[in-house]
Amino acid sequence: MTRINKIERIFDRVLKNVKPGDGEIKTINSTVNEMMSRLKKVAGNNVEIMLTGSVARGTNVRGNYDIDIFLLFKNNISEEEMEKKGIEIAKKTIAKHKNETYTMKYAEHPYLMLNMNDRGITIDLVPSFKIKDASERISAVDRTQLHNQFINSNFNEKLRDDVRLLKTFLAANGIYGAEARIEGFSGYLCELLVFHFGSFAKLLNAMGSLKLPAVIDIKNNSRIQGMQADFVKKFAKEFIVIDPVDENRNVAANVSSESLSLLMLKARKFLAGPSIDAFYGPKFSDVNSKAQIKKLGDELGLDVYALVFKIPDIAEDIIWQQIKKTRGRIEDILRQGNFAPELSFQNISDRLGIISFFINPVRCNSKKAAGPHIAMADSVDAFMKKHKKPFTFIENDRIYSMQRQAHALPEDLLMAIAGKKIIEFPSYIKKEKIYFYKNRIPEQYAKMLNQAVRTRLLWQ
Ligand code: CTP
Ligand code: MG
Repeated sequence: MTRINKIERIFDRVLKNVKPGDGEIKTINSTVNEMMSRLKKVAGNNVEIMLTGSVARGTNVRGNYDIDIFLLFKNNISEEEMEKKGIEIAKKTIAKHKNETYTMKYAEHPYLMLNMNDRGITIDLVPSFKIKDASERISAVDRTQLHNQFINSNFNEKLRDDVRLLKTFLAANGIYGAEARIEGFSGYLCELLVFHFGSFAKLLNAMGSLKLPAVIDIKNNSRIQGMQADFVKKFAKEFIVIDPVDENRNVAANVSSESLSLLMLKARKFLAGPSIDAFYGPKFSDVNSKAQIKKLGDELGLDVYALVFKIPDIAEDIIWQQIKKTRGRIEDILRQGNFAPELSFQNISDRLGIISFFINPVRCNSKKAAGPHIAMADSVDAFMKKHKKPFTFIENDRIYSMQRQAHALPEDLLMAIAGKKIIEFPSYIKKEKIYFYKNRIPEQYAKMLNQAVRTRLLWQ
């Protein structure tokens, strides 16, 4: 069998698993119809109801029962008014007697997530403005209706299936989705990339040898050469996919360099040795995570530190980013204290957050503090006055002083941080107690850490 045939056979087998079956399509279609008519009844003639997202474009993966429906308002009202009215309409469509509930979601923009608990289906009901061109855009999600038109007028069944393959491939590697926790490829980005490269197989080829910076201009179906620097400056990114409906938007804005690098690596690996395993993520058990983490720390000869704290019920993206910022600040402080972490992780689960560092077992009793150049008379005098004890000296042409450290061990420093003596935690953590652990991390928290560790680990 030729290599190409082998790859095609793998794709066919994966598709059999990830393409929605007849039953699923029927369930989704009847739910969409029912919901659209409920919405139309409540909303009246002034609001257009539009099915969007992967269901509208036939790029949904089996078992993903998420339906996206937009409520499109005329732009003769304010954005707040539009949001308020949209949410009101959405709430009126919930059938409590059918065991339906809802959750309010606040992304850049509020929307309502309706849970049809009996059917296992969730429907995002998103208020936005009706527009014909991106220049008329007011709210963050107004472009979505235009995405529908672009994809549906350019796609055939083969491209739709290729998007499903790409989504599955990315999900297996933990990089499907634009949310802060993943920093990967959104559904719409998958659609655009498959369209641009022409097929999933060609996309893998291109990604395997991608040269950065890369600017992909979807609308003109071209790779922009020679002017990359201008775009890198404009979008502050090295991988840029220009939205065909809005030249001012980089659809790949949320793709981190780690996610992009992982796709490049996995594409190369798959092409070098095609295997269906590439579409199914690694299996690992999170049973006894406490011991697993301890073992990893021992193998590496690193101490594992963890800070655990409560988090409130707010948008995951916001919390995730704030924890990331806090983690970065603590890392800086550790580095200044000579305890630079070799590895650092974070995770959230329910109402708990965890920040963890793997650090070499070091002690830092004293550190050399650099003073001014010897020629700077006044500064040198001031430095010497300030640092009388215990050991001030000259090295080359500068003055130095040995400084006894307030925190000689990473745990001293981390405990001081946990006690909020060193940095201000973001407001939402402040009131809660922050727990500190070293090496022996209680199972519940070790599970959270283990998950974060496994997501970063490259499997063969
Ligand atoms: N969208 C967007 N940018 C985002 C998130 C969403 O432009 N960061 C728009 C896209 O047009 C997308 C639609 O909103 O197609 C619905 O979003 P979502 O449900 O997250 O993605 P899907 O494309 O429907 O993919 P999935 O199959 O995972 O639901
Ligand atoms: Mg969707």
